[in-house]
Amino acid sequence: MSEIDALKLQLESLQSEALAAFSAADSLNDLQALRVSYLGKKGALTEVLKGVGKLPPEDRPVIGKFVNQTKQALAAALDATEAELAVKAKSARIESEKVDVSLPGRSGPKGALHPVQQGLDELTAIFVQMGFDVAEGPEIEDEFHNFDALNIPPEHPARAMHDTFFIKDMRNADGTEPMLLRTHTSPVQIRAMKRFLAEGGEPPLAVVAPGRVYRCDYDVTHSPMFHQVEVFKVDHDVSLSHLKGVLQYFLSAYFEKDVAIRLRPHYFPFTEPSAEVDIGCVFCAGKGCRICKGSGWIEVLGSGMIHPNVLKSVGIDAGEFSGFAFGLGVERMVMLKQGIPDLRLFFENDVRFLSRMGVAK
Ligand code: PHE
Repeated sequence: MSEIDALKLQLESLQSEALAAFSAADSLNDLQALRVSYLGKKGALTEVLKGVGKLPPEDRPVIGKFVNQTKQALAAALDATEAELAVKAKSARIESEKVDVSLPGRSGPKGALHPVQQGLDELTAIFVQMGFDVAEGPEIEDEFHNFDALNIPPEHPARAMHDTFFIKDMRNADGTEPMLLRTHTSPVQIRAMKRFLAEGGEPPLAVVAPGRVYRCDYDVTHSPMFHQVEVFKVDHDVSLSHLKGVLQYFLSAYFEKDVAIRLRPHYFPFTEPSAEVDIGCVFCAGKGCRICKGSGWIEVLGSGMIHPNVLKSVGIDAGEFSGFAFGLGVERMVMLKQGIPDLRLFFENDVRFLSRMGVAK
């Protein structure tokens, strides 16, 4: 075999070996290594070229052309394989980074409304549904709105220091009134009636006023801060039967069953007549249990017909108009509805209690 044929043969087998190796490469790194080992300075093809020098000069161009063709064929095959591998690598990456957008999200711990806030919202909503307007008043109140305007004279025991948090060295804007933390939501009666009249309103006026109140008291059933909802209505000919009807409807709506109600004569300075309202015990259905202390009845709120002096204090003609009012303790209502045994659970902020109570009903 001539020298030139031997070289040709060598190039052919080199080419087919290289092409096989390229197509077996499964990464761009492998392919780069192959490129070096075939086409690099010390590569296989260079090795073959060394043999060309030994040929007679007239044969050199022939084999030179052949070497070039091989080189081009290898380069082209390398480029093509490289492009293929690049596409494969990209789709592998896309595959590995694929996100299933239909998977439900991972949620963190959820917050919930405090049971007292839930109670406030629930109670208020019942009255809003009945057509009452929502009103609010300040928690820092003056003596006039908290007491005097509500027909509570200065010597009344409710004004004694042990009940009321007076605010030291603080007076109202015109300096005439000592300031205090309101002891009940009844001052909102005064504020709402005054605002209503100032805006040119004429009774009827029906208001629900939820809010925070303060009394200097702390034990199993009393907290220095608690919540009340005040409800009142003023119109021509409002009578005790309106009060009783609203109470009956509201208490049954709140406890989600037909509850029995009972009005017991009582005294409040700002209502006349006044009554404490009991419901048939929601725990023993009136049979008598530990919660109702065997009586079958549970006291839930204070109520009455708005005292003429209260109407007068805001400038409503007590001859022409009358009204009913009642005020209830929110914590107590929530305890009765949810069977919570201790008032202090509301304020200890133990998340086990709060998250259990916070579950949407
Ligand atoms: N303000 C009274 C209290 O806090 C409750 C009440 C409101 C009673 C309205 C009668 C009428 O005890």
